[in-house]
Amino acid sequence: MTIRFDGKVAIVTGAGNGLGRAHAMELARRGAKVVVNDFGGARDGTGASLSPAERVAGEIHAMAGEAIADGADVTDADQCRAMVAAAQRKWGRVDILINNAGILRDKSFPKMSDSDWSAVIDVHLNGSANCTRAVWPLMREQNYGRVVMTTSTSGLYGNFGQANYGAAKMGVVGLMRTLVIEGAKYGIRLNCLAPTAATRMTEDILTPDLLDMLKPEYVTPAAIFLASEDAPNGEVMLAGAGHYSVLEWRESKGAHLAEADRNADAVAANYAAIAAMDDPDMFTEGRQHVTKILQAEAAMRKS
Ligand SMILES: NC(=O)c1ccc[n+]([C@@H]2O[C@H](COP(=O)([O-])OP(=O)(O)OC[C@H]3O[C@@H](n4cnc5c(N)ncnc54)[C@H](O)[C@@H]3O)[C@@H](O)[C@H]2O)c1
Repeated sequence: MTIRFDGKVAIVTGAGNGLGRAHAMELARRGAKVVVNDFGGARDGTGASLSPAERVAGEIHAMAGEAIADGADVTDADQCRAMVAAAQRKWGRVDILINNAGILRDKSFPKMSDSDWSAVIDVHLNGSANCTRAVWPLMREQNYGRVVMTTSTSGLYGNFGQANYGAAKMGVVGLMRTLVIEGAKYGIRLNCLAPTAATRMTEDILTPDLLDMLKPEYVTPAAIFLASEDAPNGEVMLAGAGHYSVLEWRESKGAHLAEADRNADAVAANYAAIAAMDDPDMFTEGRQHVTKILQAEAAMRKS
């Protein structure tokens, strides 16, 4: 099976460098018309230049692909809407959005300034929401869309010095899970990708031999699969060093405590049963949890 994107239009944010560049190049190699978005700033989000996006668009043109460079700052919702409008004007549709733009402002939590916090939340979480809101009406109208959010193990599991980044990266998972529900009847599928790759984001924390094992091109196959027609829906896929895996959400069956035991001491005494994972529930909507607890309560009241 060969995944192709002939006739499809893709937007990749932050595609002037690193992972976004690798995703954009591979989409183009497989026939997609690509909006190469990048505002061209430094790793901490300062400065701006259209040249990284233009360079990658040029690389796509050089291999006879179709691309436009776009300098929208994803934190600006109007610029995101203008980017989508430009793609629509040129190519008539947008099928794929890969929310990949990102910055880092690593600091231990007490040393993190208000602006370190909000700048990182703004690019990763608000930026992903801005771009997704901009393509959403079009994808609904087309009855087709594939959106990939870029998350991180720093959000999924935690990482020292990355409270801002981890919160933002888990935020995009929450955004994805609700949009999976809202997009289902319009043929829109969303997934998250948690990459590990040698880019300017990681170049000073990894040794040269590790950097060689973590080529961005090893992550891109997961992004391409998640952007394809046969993509799953609502998955979190981890990819790096040639390894690919998925994350699963599990809730313990839990314990339903009698009225007299609804106190902290009883919760502590029953903690092992509450947390037992032998027969977990795997929900895809919040209301499934609400149904579970109300059914348990109704059953207890009846007995
Ligand atoms: N490299 C890793 O190991 C790793 C791990 C987990 C997650 N990620 C995520 O992968 C994505 C890509 O990161 P990368 O490692 O390729 O880093 P990178 O710095 O090489 O690329 C990020 C790009 O995003 C662009 N960008 C930043 N802010 C922007 C904005 N407001 N508007 C438009 N473009 C903007 C930058 O100019 C840059 O070109 C990021 O979301 C990052 O958080 C990377």
